[in-house]
Amino acid sequence: MSKSLAVVGGGVIGLSVAARAARDGWSVHLYDPSVGSGASWVAGGMLAPLSEGWPGEHDLLELGAQSLARWPEFARSLPDDVFSSSGSLTVALDAADAADLRTIAEFVGAQGHELSVLGRAEIRELEPSLAQNIRLGLLAPTEFAVDNRLLVAALQKAAAGVEFVAEAVTDLDALDADQVVVAAGSHTAALLPGMPVRSVKGEILRLRRRSSAIPAPTRTIRGSVHGRPIYLVPRGDGLVVGATQYESGDDTQVTVAGVRDLIADAERLMPSIGEYELYETAAGLRPMSPDGLPVIGRISDRVIVASGHGRNGILLTPITADAVAALLAGDELPETKAADPARFEIGRTP
Ligand code: GLY
Repeated sequence: MSKSLAVVGGGVIGLSVAARAARDGWSVHLYDPSVGSGASWVAGGMLAPLSEGWPGEHDLLELGAQSLARWPEFARSLPDDVFSSSGSLTVALDAADAADLRTIAEFVGAQGHELSVLGRAEIRELEPSLAQNIRLGLLAPTEFAVDNRLLVAALQKAAAGVEFVAEAVTDLDALDADQVVVAAGSHTAALLPGMPVRSVKGEILRLRRRSSAIPAPTRTIRGSVHGRPIYLVPRGDGLVVGATQYESGDDTQVTVAGVRDLIADAERLMPSIGEYELYETAAGLRPMSPDGLPVIGRISDRVIVASGHGRNGILLTPITADAVAALLAGDELPETKAADPARFEIGRTP
């Protein structure tokens, strides 16, 4: 008889873990009252570990780069195409931003990854819809974006061998399974008391190009306005614009101030964005750990955690699925060592 696995959480992490385990011969139940409706549904879907590299965050850069490299094969294993655009361009609106871009280029380049610094004319040529006062750009040609909602749907199809249980889990001990994987995102700390995963709320906008509006950028565009990060991710005939960041509150209500800031900041990057149709606003809760790295590993003989992916859940899905598959097979993936829960107190629970 096959061994039984309970996966708690039906976001992209839980779905990919469950699908993989079912393929590997486990009898899998996935528990979630509303599969794919949390942070996975709200995500921008940009896979940008190189552009977001920063000195001192070496482990996060390498984990992200490793997962980015696994993405093409992971995508080929899915029943549907989930890619939405390729390349990303981070832009500087002032001298301080330009200095930051040079710092990133130097640090990430020294780790052997490909990034190039572009001047005004090159930016205009690549992405004519962007503001003329952009001073500098950082091009990451190997980064790309995926459609998070197509990904959720594709993973649900890929998880055909999984039994879905539309229930919220409150007690891991009550689950009738040999092994349990907690992939519960922002609910993780409620299931694993002491696990330092907190919620960081984020709001996004979804825009559609109207026929009179100029075409959207073809790459993910990232920038910073008044210290607030802003990104535009191409999605079909429009853009996902994100994202606000709030440390307090566990709600998923979209605020007037959040929408106002996102529109104002997006306009600084792409002045004609006001011509687009705003057809959706949404908010999600990022499961964030204290050091920004995910928490992936065994916390007891029976329980594995795969959470704390913060802003990088979609990016880190392939490497997390590989790491959990290795743990279920009694092995470890050396590439996710930095994500070991043993770095926190709870990771040492027998
Ligand atoms: N994935 C980007 C964000 O959380 O804003």
